[in-house]
Amino acid sequence: MPFPVQRLRRLRKTPQLRKFIQETKLSIDHFVMPYFVCPGKKIKLPIESMPGNFRLSIDELVTAAQQTYSLGIPAILLFGLPAKKDEKASSAYADDGIVQQAVRAIKSAVPELIVITDVCLCEYTSHGHCGILKDRQVDNDTTLAILAQTALSHANAGADIVAPSDMMDGRVAAIRKILDEHNYSDIPILAYSAKFASAFYAPFREAVDSAPQFGDRKSYQLNSANAREALREIALDIEEGADIVMVKPALAYLDIITRAKQTFNIPIAAYNVSGEFSLVKAAAEKGWIDESQVVLEILTSIKRAGADIIISYWANEVAKLI
Ligand code: PBG
Repeated sequence: MPFPVQRLRRLRKTPQLRKFIQETKLSIDHFVMPYFVCPGKKIKLPIESMPGNFRLSIDELVTAAQQTYSLGIPAILLFGLPAKKDEKASSAYADDGIVQQAVRAIKSAVPELIVITDVCLCEYTSHGHCGILKDRQVDNDTTLAILAQTALSHANAGADIVAPSDMMDGRVAAIRKILDEHNYSDIPILAYSAKFASAFYAPFREAVDSAPQFGDRKSYQLNSANAREALREIALDIEEGADIVMVKPALAYLDIITRAKQTFNIPIAAYNVSGEFSLVKAAAEKGWIDESQVVLEILTSIKRAGADIIISYWANEVAKLI
């Protein structure tokens, strides 16, 4: 019998009752903090479009990683700004590349912190595309070998998890194969499986100077209108050996997170990307919203949608809020 027998407000009466029946709760255990590492010493260059985030030299990054770990955050995700970019992305897989050096330094200073490395070529190519070009097109199969080399060099440096974000076909299988051949069968792959061609990446591309010099990423990243294709991408990555799959961005794709959670029996990560962060920061700076409240609401929505792991530029701040 409905009203007046049913009164949902009964359980909303006090803070204690509301907490008692709360369905979704954020835990710092499932957050990942992204960092950008650059060459040099004592460098802490603010990223203008992402207030509170910096391009850090390795010494500064180690300090930041220590702080993140002491806040209780279990993992970081590393992006590199190489000293030089070229057509072949050679700095991406160099043994003494910026990410490789950074991983070594962090793993020796904070061994318990989970270090995840972004495996992609766009930060390392002079043209800004995520792969090797042939006739101004990103050539899938040539790129696979370079991505595999890059992932291997990260594993050699001590990365705990490698995370390919390039969206080439077959990259999870290529990376799994090379890792297994080199005795890294225990290194997990976090695949950016459902990665959409999104305008929400703009602040990130400013941060690492990785905007494509011509064209866009629509020949490799997903069309934002396609949900069934996204599920196919996830299914293929799981078959190829992905251990965790990711949906990216998060907010405009909560439906994809939910469908992935319902369809697959594997941990789902969601990337609360740069543009999602910057929009809120900008509105908060103008005094139009309460940042902490909005951030908790956003992150809770991502978890409620089904994300097991959340990558967010707010991770450090959230650790103090929850
Ligand atoms: C690299 C990569 C991108 C992001 C993560 N890895 C940018 C892109 O695909 O252009 C975006 C992250 C963010 O916006 O926070 N391919």
